[in-house]
Amino acid sequence: VEPSPTVPVFTLNAYGCQRRTPLLHHNNVLTDALLVLAENAEFNEDEGRSVAFKRAASVLKALPHTVRGMEELQGLPCLGGHSQRVIKEILEEGKSREVEATLQSQQFQAMKALTGIFGVGVKTADRWFREGLRQPSDVVDTGQKLNHTQEAGIRYYEDLNTPVTRAEADAIGQIVEEAVQAVLPGATITLTGGFRRGKPTGHDVDFLITHPEEGKEENLMPKVVSWLDDRGLLLYQKTTRNSYLEAKDGPARPPHNMDRFERCFSIFRLDRPHRRPEQQPQAGGECQAQVGGTLLGQGSEESRDWKAVRVDLVVTPASQFAFALLGWTGSQLFERELRRWAVHEKHMSLSSHALYDSTQNRYLRGSTEEEIFTHLGLEFVPPSERNA
Ligand code: CTP
Ligand code: MN
Ligand code: MN
Ligand code: MN
Repeated sequence: VEPSPTVPVFTLNAYGCQRRTPLLHHNNVLTDALLVLAENAEFNEDEGRSVAFKRAASVLKALPHTVRGMEELQGLPCLGGHSQRVIKEILEEGKSREVEATLQSQQFQAMKALTGIFGVGVKTADRWFREGLRQPSDVVDTGQKLNHTQEAGIRYYEDLNTPVTRAEADAIGQIVEEAVQAVLPGATITLTGGFRRGKPTGHDVDFLITHPEEGKEENLMPKVVSWLDDRGLLLYQKTTRNSYLEAKDGPARPPHNMDRFERCFSIFRLDRPHRRPEQQPQAGGECQAQVGGTLLGQGSEESRDWKAVRVDLVVTPASQFAFALLGWTGSQLFERELRRWAVHEKHMSLSSHALYDSTQNRYLRGSTEEEIFTHLGLEFVPPSERNA
């Protein structure tokens, strides 16, 4: 179909990493709907379908105007037939029956609630759903066998499903900064993930830790973790040591999306700001983590002056910092699109450690994100425009 001359045709590049995607955009009604279908596809372990809906939503996020008619979509990439049907129905009827039915479905609601438990993935949630479980309390009531991560996920379920604010992220940042300076003076921390993209809230707080002198950062994580733990600041932590050098699959080709940095997935015990300063406990007065007595029993809001917050810490050598920063800033779709662009358009392989050029058979150095975009033949996209 030829584009009608009266409709202004706005075109977009095909890869999410070639576009600027701001946090706030003009098509939330459509993108929210498509992302419900993407999430549902994930629950059904249909990754291809899920990515297709996410790519369609991402294109709409990059549009500078609100879509009001199907003719405005002419020439836009990544809008498959299924996505177009959903968009058309919403534009014409105000809502999509498929999306409404998904939101109402017991399976979607249960999978959402169960995968909302830290440490519970789609496979476990799906097994539980088929056994008749619908919500976290069913997991406790039926006495499911849980690993330590899932136990923490259940215990702090409410807190961990309450968005982390920017103020809380900054407060965590001060604590991490203090810990890092105490165990390795000169080391630096960088806030990454969604907060670096300008999100006002997040599901966790992500930090990169490095030291300007290569090698100084080795085995830093256990020391940081001990410092935090000694002060009762950690409710849960799982540290994984660096496995980059022993990797057999080549540094730029980690399996899946996982990188091999020394990392720590943790839950911090963050003191809440006290509304009445006169009632604030004396500094240093408490150092034991007060753990909720029963599973799922976090106590009433009034009885607790702290909040459980998910924090990801990653230690990186200085030479890999720019790659790690690019890899951990996200969004997840933006990262996926960067790697797809690298492979398919540039015969390169990008990871959070390195960029390998298969044509020249060598690694390309990058000490800033800008350099990496240049190597990839892409225009630089600032973090605030990586909300693909
Ligand atoms: N990431 C990664 N390896 C992991 C987990 C995450 O490389 N094991 C990357 C993701 O690809 C993403 C970034 O780290 O680019 C941040 O991930 P995450 O915290 O899950 O998402 P955010 O974008 O920060 O969103 P949120 O606000 O929900 O935390
Ligand atoms: Mn389809
Ligand atoms: Mn995050
Ligand atoms: Mn994270």
